[in-house]
Amino acid sequence: MAQKTVRCLVTAGPTQEYFDPVRFISNPSSGKMGWHIAKAAREIGWETTLILGPSALSDPDGVKTVRVVSAQDMLEESEKAFEKCDILIMAAAVCDVRPKLKVGHKVKKGEIPLTVELERTPDILLTLSKKKKEQILIGFAAETRNLVEYAKEKLEQKNLDAIVANIVGGKSSGFGSDSNEIVLIMRSGEIIDFNPAEKKTLASHLIKFVSTKFGLEK
Ligand code: CTP
Repeated sequence: MAQKTVRCLVTAGPTQEYFDPVRFISNPSSGKMGWHIAKAAREIGWETTLILGPSALSDPDGVKTVRVVSAQDMLEESEKAFEKCDILIMAAAVCDVRPKLKVGHKVKKGEIPLTVELERTPDILLTLSKKKKEQILIGFAAETRNLVEYAKEKLEQKNLDAIVANIVGGKSSGFGSDSNEIVLIMRSGEIIDFNPAEKKTLASHLIKFVSTKFGLEK
């Protein structure tokens, strides 16, 4: 019997949390890692949806791309697509906080409060993990220190099957860079060290590894 096509949901990019139409809080994510993951997933034949935060990148060929701005938008689009996916790879660098007050007009500079009250954005991965049925959940952990320890904590907290840990904040890996250094930590505790490489190459290696490991190949 022919096997069903794997349905893959990938999130990528930053989110932007506006407090008026021209000002926002965000982070320097370019979306490249998740973008390449979505492309690699498509290339091995998976039906792929990419939920992409604000990014200069084009839609990857053959990938259904949904563009979003805020964490709330990303949550809503992810929830819609999650039910129908077999595997979620949550590479987005979701902005953790947003201004509590949002106004619809540009605030005059003299009237901008110098202390802005913030509130937490929803934790998308945690929310989806609570709705998990058969889906395989893979998160990312962006860290500047204690990489494996912090990543393992996130794997547990968010009930993941695996987590991709990467060091950010350096010159040759992480946000904005074309290359990256990642380790994949499985729920079993197994750690797979990928050689530092271009994000494109790493994405392809990661997808092939995950496909074999979770028995998703055709
Ligand atoms: N994530 C999410 N929603 C958020 C924050 C993070 O879904 N509001 C997801 C990320 O996409 C990633 C994982 O959770 O897959 C871990 O994100 P990371 O930024 O490394 O950690 P946080 O959970 O934000 O925790 P901390 O900032 O304390 O490291």
